[in-house]
Amino acid sequence: MFNTIGVIGLGVMGSNIALNMAGKGEQVAVYNYTRDLTDNLVNKNEGQSIHPYYEIQDFVYSLETPRKIFLMVTAGKPVDSVIDTLLPFLEAGDVIMDGGNSHYKDTERRYDELKSKGIGYLGIGISGGEVGALKGPSIMPGGDKDVYEKASPILTKIAAQVDGDPCCVYMGPKGSGHFVKMVHNGIEYADMQLIAETYTFLRKKLCLSVNEIADIFEIWNQGELKSYLLQITAEILRKKDEITGLPLVDVILDKTGQKGTGKWTSIQAIDHGIPASIITESLFARYISSLKEERVYAENILTGPEIGQRSLDKDLWIEYIRQAFYMGKICAYTQGFIQYKMTSELYGWELPLKDIALIFRGGCIIRAEFLNVISETYQEQPNLANLLIAPYFAEKVKEYQTGLRKVVCEGINSGTSFPCLSASLTYYDSYRTGISNANLLQAQRDYFGAHTYERNDLAGFFHTNWQ
Ligand code: 6PG
Repeated sequence: MFNTIGVIGLGVMGSNIALNMAGKGEQVAVYNYTRDLTDNLVNKNEGQSIHPYYEIQDFVYSLETPRKIFLMVTAGKPVDSVIDTLLPFLEAGDVIMDGGNSHYKDTERRYDELKSKGIGYLGIGISGGEVGALKGPSIMPGGDKDVYEKASPILTKIAAQVDGDPCCVYMGPKGSGHFVKMVHNGIEYADMQLIAETYTFLRKKLCLSVNEIADIFEIWNQGELKSYLLQITAEILRKKDEITGLPLVDVILDKTGQKGTGKWTSIQAIDHGIPASIITESLFARYISSLKEERVYAENILTGPEIGQRSLDKDLWIEYIRQAFYMGKICAYTQGFIQYKMTSELYGWELPLKDIALIFRGGCIIRAEFLNVISETYQEQPNLANLLIAPYFAEKVKEYQTGLRKVVCEGINSGTSFPCLSASLTYYDSYRTGISNANLLQAQRDYFGAHTYERNDLAGFFHTNWQ
C-alpha cells in the first residue's frame, strides 16, 4: 500500500503535523535528515499510521502519485537543500508544500523554479504553535489553484474547525500564503505588545498585583476582547516560579527575541508605502528591550517628569485601559488588513480578506472574537479602504478613544512608554485628518530640491523660486 502523504522535518511542528494527519486517517511517510528524530516519533507513537523512511528515495517512492510532500524544515537554505534532494525522484504533477515560516519572496522563487520542471509548489502559512499543529492549526495555502486542489482534502481535514468550517482557505497565487502568514505574525507582535502595555498600566499605574491582573484579563476574555493571546496571558500571570515562589513572569528577563517574520512585515510595509506603524513599533519595542544593560544604566542618568505617582480611581481606569487596549487592537488589525489589501492590489493576488479573518478565528495565535466582525465587515464591503470607517468599528472607536487618550496621556505625563498604544492613537488621529501638514513638507522639498508640488486649486505640478 502506498502512503498518502509524506512529511519531511520531524522537529516538534513537523512531528505534530504528521500525527495530526495520521489521526485523520492518512498513511503518513516520515523522513528526517537525522535518524534520531524519526525513531523518536515512531517509537513514541506505535500503532499510528506513521511510516519511517531513512533514505529519501525510499520515502519518495513510498508515496501514491501525484505525490504530496509536506516540508516542515527551518526556513531559508534548508528548504532549498531538501527540495534539491527530492528533485531527482519526483515526477511532473507531484506537489511539494512548504509549511514553514518561509519568506514569501523565497517561496515565489521556488515556485517558479519548480513550475518550470512541472512540479507543483505550495507555500503554506501554518499558525498555531505545537498544539495547533497537532490538534488543528490555521492554514494559509498559496500557489496554483489546481495544485491546491490536490492537497486540499488533507489540508482542510487537519485544520482547526470553527462552526463546522475548516480554518483553511485558498489564499491566492505564488507566495500569497506565506505572505498572509508573515503579516499574521506582524499582527501577532502588535497584539502581544498591546497586552504587555495594558499589563504595565495595570501593574505600574494602578498598582495591581499579578493575580489581580490575571483576574481582570479573565473577565475581559469573556467579552468582546476574547482572544487566545489574552487567555494565555492570564494563565502566564498565574504561574509561580518553582525556585522562588514568585510569579514566574517576575523572574523572566525582560529581553525579547524574534525570528524575523514581524521584521519582514515591517520591511515589506515600508518598501511599499503601507503605514504599518503599530506593527513596526512592536518590533522596535523588542529591539529596545534587548538593550537591557544600557536601559539599566540609563535609568540612573536620565530623569522622567517630576510628578509623583497620582492616585487613580481603580474601576474607572480599568475601564479606560480596557477601551485603550481594544482600540489599539482594532487599529493594529486594521493596519494588517490594509497591508493585505494594498499588497493584493499591487500583485493582483485577489486575497480573500473576508476568508483571512475567518480562518484566523481558530487554530492560529491571533485568534480572537472580533475577527467575526472583521469577516462580516469584508463580506458586506469587500473593497473597504480601512476597517476604521466601517460602521461597527467607527462606532466603537468613537466611544473607546476616550480611554485610549486618557491612558496615552497618563503614560506621557508620568514617563511610562506605551509605544503601541501611542502609535494606535497617532494612527487614528492622522487617518481622520482631512487637511494635514504635508503641504509644508512639499514646500520644503521644493525649496531645497526643486521636487515640485501639486496645488489644491489647479491641476499639474508646480515649482517656486523660493529665494
Ligand atoms: C504561529 C507563530 C509562530 C511563531 C513565530 C514567531 O503563528 O504559530 O507566529 O509562527 O511563534 O516563530 O515568533 P517570533 O516571536 O520568534 O518571531
